[in-house]
Amino acid sequence: MNTDFSFAVSRRGFLAAAAGAAVSASLGPARAFAGDERQIKVAPGQARLASASSPATAVWAYNGTVPGPTLRLRQRQPVRITVENGLDEDTTVHWHGIRLPNAMDGVPGLTQKPIKPGARFVYEFTPPDAGTFWFHPHANSLVQLGRGLAGALIIEEAEPVALDRDLLWLLQDWRLSSDDQIAGGFGSAMDASMSGRVGNLVTINGMAPGDQNVSAGERVRLRLANASLARMMALRFEGHRPVVVAIDGQPCEPHEPEDGRLVLAPAMRIDIVLDMQGDPGSRHAVIDDFYDGLAYTLTTFAYDKAPPLRAHPLDAPVGLPRNPLPTPDLASAMRQEIVVQGGMMGGGKLAGVGGMMGMGMPGMSGGAAWAINGMSMTGDGHVGMAPQFMLKRGASCHLTMRNETAWWHPMHIHGFSMLVLSRNGAPVSHRQWQDTVLLAPKDVIECAFVADNPGDWMLHCHVADHQMAGLMTVFRVT
Ligand code: C2O
Ligand code: CU
Ligand code: CU
Repeated sequence: MNTDFSFAVSRRGFLAAAAGAAVSASLGPARAFAGDERQIKVAPGQARLASASSPATAVWAYNGTVPGPTLRLRQRQPVRITVENGLDEDTTVHWHGIRLPNAMDGVPGLTQKPIKPGARFVYEFTPPDAGTFWFHPHANSLVQLGRGLAGALIIEEAEPVALDRDLLWLLQDWRLSSDDQIAGGFGSAMDASMSGRVGNLVTINGMAPGDQNVSAGERVRLRLANASLARMMALRFEGHRPVVVAIDGQPCEPHEPEDGRLVLAPAMRIDIVLDMQGDPGSRHAVIDDFYDGLAYTLTTFAYDKAPPLRAHPLDAPVGLPRNPLPTPDLASAMRQEIVVQGGMMGGGKLAGVGGMMGMGMPGMSGGAAWAINGMSMTGDGHVGMAPQFMLKRGASCHLTMRNETAWWHPMHIHGFSMLVLSRNGAPVSHRQWQDTVLLAPKDVIECAFVADNPGDWMLHCHVADHQMAGLMTVFRVT
């Protein structure tokens, strides 16, 4: 064997090790990897969203489909995902809700260099938690997510859960023009300072939903994920009693939601268990009535005619095994407060952001319409995002989020899951851990988490227009 060659190989191996997981594939043959490997290509594509016979819509897609492929991975099993950028603009992939090393978090300028057109980036992590997560770009996310870049990331429990079927509804909201193409006008001042870019077509797994075929007596785990830019949803399952078993991927104490409504803001996930107790041949609507006066039937459960699979619902418990989340120590916790400010009030005036840093014309061409603690960080991930607060590694943080605006905000934390303690002073039950916490207008929510993961982490509203227009901040764990 040629010594120069073997030197080259070992030198490459050395470089790969030195560069850690983020080694570029162009460095040469991949080193042996004991784990799952996946490939994702980001590129323009086409999708038929309204029906199989509707005109094709130009989209941006992961591996050619919207949503992208569902990545099913295993808890505590390392994974290496090579992302190749076939767009003609920078991108990254953010693994929403996964507690992973900071360098794998996919925020351009903050945790990695953006993936340039034609380039690759290798993400490597070991998911500690089982549950329902998702992935999306964190570069120009208003446009990239709005053009279809999103996919589900399911981390399977080490032990299978007793159920008949495991279903996923990845919900996306599209603003289509009359020619079935994605409407332009991303980031308009009105969207930015009001409810965000709410669309006019909701899809389930990439298609305007037809009926969902179900069988009487079966027990279904339904994973709901809202990958919309801005549309909030509140789902009611007529004739059924969904039991919530996980929120944002994290198992909670199984419970029926208040008023039977599942409120699902952008980026949130809810796993429910449904015992299909309808009569064979019957039909039951699933209704989204989040917006007053705008209720619509999302889809319909259509029971087949076969006799029930079983006479009584399964009596296996519906709870899921807990994930290894560290318990915050409230007595010693460091207190931090996030005050959400801005947005349109009545009369077209912006509230509370006047004179703040970064203010241009409200919401126009990258101007700020929102602020956190008086400061507007606009756009998407970029260099020079200074942390708003610091936490010592291992310390507990008691975080209060106060919404001073007239709008709803799903506030999302990267790298951690937070135990939701109270909403407007009332304790929150069912042990709810969330990475995306929905604040209604004027809500005050208290949460806590252990800052066990070092790095600079984002905290932002997941209504993409709001994030771009200033509702974003960064904190540092050292
Ligand atoms: Cu789902 Cu900062 O993102
Ligand atoms: Cu995230
Ligand atoms: Cu918001």
